[in-house]
Amino acid sequence: MNRELDHLVPMDFKNADQVPDTHTWVDSPCINSSSSDESVPLIDLEDLQAVEKIKMACENWGVFQVINHGIPVALFAEIENQARRFFALPREQKLLTLRSPGSPTGYGIIPISRVFNSLMWMEGFTMSGSPMEIVRRVWPQDYSPFCTAIDDYQEKLMGLAVKITSLIFKSLGLSDEDVEWFNPKSTEAFLHLNSYPKCPDPTRALGMVAHTDSSLITLLYQSNTDRGLQVIGPNHNWVDVEPISDAIVVNVSDLLQITSNGRFKSVTHRAIVSEAHHRISIPFFFGPKIDVNISSPLKLINDGDFSMYRPISWKEYREIKGVHFDKALEAVRFNNSVVIEKDNAQTTGNEASLGDNVEALKV
Ligand code: OGA
Ligand code: NI
Repeated sequence: MNRELDHLVPMDFKNADQVPDTHTWVDSPCINSSSSDESVPLIDLEDLQAVEKIKMACENWGVFQVINHGIPVALFAEIENQARRFFALPREQKLLTLRSPGSPTGYGIIPISRVFNSLMWMEGFTMSGSPMEIVRRVWPQDYSPFCTAIDDYQEKLMGLAVKITSLIFKSLGLSDEDVEWFNPKSTEAFLHLNSYPKCPDPTRALGMVAHTDSSLITLLYQSNTDRGLQVIGPNHNWVDVEPISDAIVVNVSDLLQITSNGRFKSVTHRAIVSEAHHRISIPFFFGPKIDVNISSPLKLINDGDFSMYRPISWKEYREIKGVHFDKALEAVRFNNSVVIEKDNAQTTGNEASLGDNVEALKV
């Protein structure tokens, strides 16, 4: 199998009794994982102080968990159940739904995997919109329980993501006019089902490499197994994000770091694997329509100061992320000669900066 395919097709994890060299990470995080007594903030969305708490969490952590979010627990159970049903299929069947390069929907290894030499101990099913056309290949008659659960989940999560985004904007003191590029009725999302099979030697493997998400925010449901998701906390060490059965994890992602002009940091996170449990996680990557330009409102830029990042659409940012990975936010920074003139609300030096960045992309 060639390298390109290697990086799309997951191995057969069933009956794997050792971690092959292809999946070995020399500095596997299970070894250097420090146990921390800090924990990710937990916020009750019905709390009258929710906005204030969200602000603190976004500033200090870039991640929080929410409860009282209005998503029925039964829906989590159902989508997890459908995800497990899919991943339990024989490998040949799952491969019938293999995602083709460039397509958002289908089975495979997540795209960031291309950047690394070692492979991650995971398999995924990604989609944007309905997966019906593709899952019919494995369940010609019986696709509806899977598709119904996915449709229902995407619809509910879209509502919740809009709500949390507006609370976050409120916490930054932004009005609708300040973020006119954000139209709550016209948004975009990508839903992933991640499967982390039991691993015979978690000290040599890695579920998902450390990264930040490119969306505005990410809402992640994780199965109530054991530890798996970890984030870099305020003290710069890895902290476990405890699974809480009716909570959703909310990540500040790259586009929100751009919007907030760097006040809210996109959280670095990763997933480790377990010998005892097959873990499922379901991130919902949310943002405005992918071709809408996002920029930091003037309100968040001190007079005479700089906008840290140039205006950019999610679509273009994803492409840059595909090339630059963890340097993508750096790649879209305005060079420091770009001063925001509040009076005429124009940026100067814009073109030069764009040119520089386009050059950088060709590297
Ligand atoms: C992701 C991700 C973490 C997890 O899919 O972007 O960070 O716990 N997943 O699966
Ligand atoms: Ni992520």
